[in-house]
Amino acid sequence: MPIETKILAILFIIAVILLIPVFIAGFSLAPWVPIPKDRLEKINRLANLKPGQIFYELGCGDARVAHYIAKANPKAKVIGIEMAYTMYLWSRLRNFISPQKNLTLKHANALKVDLSDANIVYIYMIEPTMNKILKPKFLRELKKNTKIISYACRFLEWDGPYTCEERTKKSKSLHVYTITSQQKI
Ligand SMILES: C[S@@+](CC[C@H](N)C(=O)[O-])C[C@H]1O[C@@H](n2cnc3c(N)ncnc32)[C@H](O)[C@@H]1O
Repeated sequence: MPIETKILAILFIIAVILLIPVFIAGFSLAPWVPIPKDRLEKINRLANLKPGQIFYELGCGDARVAHYIAKANPKAKVIGIEMAYTMYLWSRLRNFISPQKNLTLKHANALKVDLSDANIVYIYMIEPTMNKILKPKFLRELKKNTKIISYACRFLEWDGPYTCEERTKKSKSLHVYTITSQQKI
């Protein structure tokens, strides 16, 4: 076999190995699609984090949101959770290049992470998993007054406070929900 063919075959195998975890995670809560960078500042303003508060990004992908929030709020604690190992490594690379001490990145299934200490949870998921899987988890685990910020997708029904930041030319809406004690299950 010519050397070029061998190199191409090795590169192909590496690409497949890297893509398989991303593909599998896509069947859990959502496939990897990154949020446009022009929304990061808005998310930070909506989060309005105070010193000592805890911000979670569930399914953080390359951790562009978690990293931005950690940098903008050095006194808050930011936790990014990602199931796809490839994306997790990418997020670690981002934090290696520009380290944020207050950012923790975890390779884990977001559904198995206890969110009871969260003050803000950011998600970019798909509507069926958001409504059927994440909503009951949030109502069970999140404490009163915790804010949920969702890019693009909505809860179809929500009894508590809700605001929507309209879409821009380049990006979709941001939905902000607050947990009330009446909603807790
Ligand atoms: C639509 S992307 C959002 C990426 C990032 N949060 C953003 O806003 O740019 C969804 C991410 O969730 C991850 N994901 C899917 N199911 C997951 C699960 N059960 N636990 C953790 N991460 C998951 C995917 O691998 C993907 O990176």
